[in-house]
Amino acid sequence: MGDLTNFIEGLPKAELHLHIEGTLEPELRFRLAERNKMDLPYGDVDDMRKSYVFHDLSSFLPVYYQAMAVLQTPQDFYDLAWAYLARASSENVRYAEIFFDPQAHTSRGVPFHHVISGLGAAVLDARGGLGIKAQLILCILRDRSAEYAMATLMESLPYRDSIVGIGLDSDERGNPPGKFSDVFQRARAEGYHLTMHCDVDQENTTEHIRQCLHDIKVERIDHGVNVLENEALVEEARARGLGFTVCPVSNGYVTGDLKTAELKEMLRRGLKATVNSDDPAYFAAYMTDNLKAAAESGALEAADLIQIARNAFEISWLGTGPKEALLAELERYATSAAVLPSA
Ligand code: ADE
Ligand code: ZN
Repeated sequence: MGDLTNFIEGLPKAELHLHIEGTLEPELRFRLAERNKMDLPYGDVDDMRKSYVFHDLSSFLPVYYQAMAVLQTPQDFYDLAWAYLARASSENVRYAEIFFDPQAHTSRGVPFHHVISGLGAAVLDARGGLGIKAQLILCILRDRSAEYAMATLMESLPYRDSIVGIGLDSDERGNPPGKFSDVFQRARAEGYHLTMHCDVDQENTTEHIRQCLHDIKVERIDHGVNVLENEALVEEARARGLGFTVCPVSNGYVTGDLKTAELKEMLRRGLKATVNSDDPAYFAAYMTDNLKAAAESGALEAADLIQIARNAFEISWLGTGPKEALLAELERYATSAAVLPSA
């Protein structure tokens, strides 16, 4: 593993499953609370971390939503995104597609414009300032109504140039993809790329994956490792080149299993599986640590890690030119690392 550690650190990476609100580290949460004159019921960072108690998706989400109350102004959203982009860039993440949850903010009175202007400015500044490319994906909260989802989609349209795609997240229980068919059809007509969460080991998971593939016709599924339970869906996903954004350490927190055996099987079956960090402030692992954890627990080899990185650039929503350039950078790294004794 010692050799692979260096290899993973140097690997040019793309991150495609990252909730920006899930990068709110306790230190920044304290700083924003102070700036916005809000009291938090924690003595210090350790005390705050101790309050982050969850064992599955349904118990994680209330902790995540409560913490983001400190995000109020465009500057707050800017600082949040900048902190993530700086961290990602330091880990050689060359490109990131970043989820944001506007309804988690508009529902508590923060204007959509505050959210998108802060995040959008950080993304623009990071390109020159940090050398990292990024784009934003608006996530619809699936435990809210389809009407609220449609209104949010409409609210996004003036900012169309700052948003590359539409996703679906939050509590999956009782909230199938089909609930949002009209919203996603409209999103496609507006030119957005489409993805949806099918969280790990959820009720009716293969039916949800089927709806994503057949009814909504997404380009990617976020998580989606349960696809392996259905041969026909695996074959269809493979034939379509559907992307899967797997999050090993997150899986460990919400299911007790990193699901790396499944990740390896997905690669073996020719599925375009990738590794991502999901909510790193809560799951204590950014990209590099997710790859290290996956490599260690799944006995992945350098060739698997290169395939994971290649898949991520391939299924990304970059234009052809920048995508080819990053894929070429990856292939150069793979070739040069192969002749080093440590690879
Ligand atoms: N929101 C933030 N993280 C999430 C996850 N892993 N699944 C669903 N919704 C989320
Ligand atoms: Zn997620």
